[in-house]
Parts: sequence; C-alpha cells; structure tokens
Amino acid sequence: MLDTMTLTKALGAFCGAFLVFLLGSWGAETIYGTGEAGHGEEHAQAYTIEVASAEGTETAEEGPDFATLLASADAGAGEKVFGKCASCHKVNGENGTGPHLNGVVDRPKASIAGFGYSEAILAVADQSWTPENLNGFLENPKEYMPGTAMGFAGLPKPEDRANLIAYLATTQP
Ligand code: HEC
Repeated sequence: MLDTMTLTKALGAFCGAFLVFLLGSWGAETIYGTGEAGHGEEHAQAYTIEVASAEGTETAEEGPDFATLLASADAGAGEKVFGKCASCHKVNGENGTGPHLNGVVDRPKASIAGFGYSEAILAVADQSWTPENLNGFLENPKEYMPGTAMGFAGLPKPEDRANLIAYLATTQP
C-alpha cells in the first residue's frame, strides 16, 4: 500500500518533470493535481515521511560524496573513460573539435588561446575548472552550461567522473 503510494508519487514526479518541459509548470500542476491529489493538501502531507525516507534511500544509493570518490579515484580507469572524450579532445597540447585538456584541472575556463569557444563558456572565463566544476559539467554539459558547444551527453556515473578527473589531473599543463 505504502509502496504503491511511493511508486505513484515517483511516477507522478517523473510525469510532472516532463510536463514542465512540455506544457510549462502550470500545466503540470493542473494535471498532476487532478490525477493524484484530488483530496487536497492534507493527504499529500500525510505521506511526507514516506517521501522523505524514499529520498534518504536514494541518497544512500548514490554512495559516497564526490570528494570521497575523488580521494580514492583510479586514474588508470579514468584514462579508459577518457576514450569517450578522445574523439574531440587531446592531451598532447593540440586542439581538436574541442580545446586540448592538458592540465585542465584548475585551469581557467575557456583559456586556450586560438580555440573558438562558445559565448556560453566565454561568459564564465573568470572561473576555473576545479574538480567540483568538472564534475558538474561532465555529468551533464548542456545542463551545467546551457549553450555550450560541447556536444556530449554526459557521464552519469559518479565513479566514472571521479576517475576521469583524477586522470586529467595527471596530464601535464
Ligand atoms: C563531440 C565532441 C566533444 C566530446 C565527445 C567531448 N567534448 Fe569537451 N568540449 C568540446 C567542445 C566543442 C568544447 C568547447 C565548449 C564551448 O566552447 O562551449 C569542449 C569543452 C570542454 C571543456 C572546457 C575546456 C576549457 O578550455 O574551458 C572541458 C573541461 C571538456 N570539454 C571536457 C570533456 C571531457 C572530459 C569529455 C569526455 C567525457 C569531453 N569533453 C567530451 C567537444 C567535445
């Protein structure tokens, strides 16, 4: 019974998210509202604990935080992950479709002279590619930096990102 509610809420959340994109949030709320919470706010409130515990479980499933992952990251495994980047990025100081990534960890953003960066990244050229920034960007480049010219879907696995960043940190500036 409670599982069904949790599942229903999870499904509702997904549908809601898509509708936000498709129809705008007002549409999502209208449909989500009539679809599930016909009996008003009190009932939704009654399951707050259930939702909170579900979120707690998710956090546990996500495993250790990024700093912990990075501290134990495997640069050798990261070199393999870099295979996904190698069609566009080199680490030999030459630019390809993307700028070279030599010493990119803690390198200022959009700092490779002669590379034709997008407006999106030039706008944040006062920031650096800290491990945390790289982690956010590589998880979902277009979400982290709307308008970026980097045509890459992202690395969903936190371990892949941590290992890759550890590998990138070994490249010579
Ligand atoms: C399809 C080609 C492509 C792939 C694949 C790709 N990138 Fe990129 N990357 C780009 C382009 C193009 C840019 C320039 C972005 C801009 O101008 O907005 C870029 C920019 C970057 C930057 C910013 C560099 C700077 O000088 O500020 C980093 C870091 C980066 N990519 C890392 C990666 C990593 C790591 C991977 C693999 C997981 C990857 N990219 C995969 C094309 C790609």
